[in-house]
Amino acid sequence: MILPIYTYNHPVLKEKTSRIADMSDELRQFIDSMFVTMRHARGIGLAANQVGKGLSLTVIDISDMDDEGGSEPPLVLINPVIEAYSDEEDEFEEGCLSLPDFRDIVVRPSAIQVRFLDGDMKEHVREVDGLMARVMQHEIDHLNGIYFFERLSPIRKTLSSGKLKRIARGDIEPEYEIFRG
Ligand code: NI
Repeated sequence: MILPIYTYNHPVLKEKTSRIADMSDELRQFIDSMFVTMRHARGIGLAANQVGKGLSLTVIDISDMDDEGGSEPPLVLINPVIEAYSDEEDEFEEGCLSLPDFRDIVVRPSAIQVRFLDGDMKEHVREVDGLMARVMQHEIDHLNGIYFFERLSPIRKTLSSGKLKRIARGDIEPEYEIFRG
């Protein structure tokens, strides 16, 4: 089922999400809907609070991206925590389904170590770099109530304030369904 995507400046996107203790049929269905919603909107990552649920859960699918993503199966991350960051950083232009038509270059650590549970509540610790490290950091930021523009330099942030106001007003027409609450 396609779910409406919540956009800036809905409160659910500003709050830290809650840890998930157990898997349930209801939650499995919700995860399926998150994948359907993300693919419909042509996203490569979606956090649960972007579809209105304050749970520590994100889905990622970069398999349609370049060679880098080609070998990565779709991922479910429950209660993800970044345990280590590389000193090395890189720049990448990010976008966000909750911030339609807004893209900017964000500097982030190029590699991370992340601990998470998968859709069967099995624990994994993975070291990732490249696009996967980038998407995981963006999505885990969402789970902590942080948008990518908060990672921009003060000047870039100031320059983006007009775009953000437009989104907050609902003056946006993305090609996917958004929550207009
Ligand atoms: Ni996003």
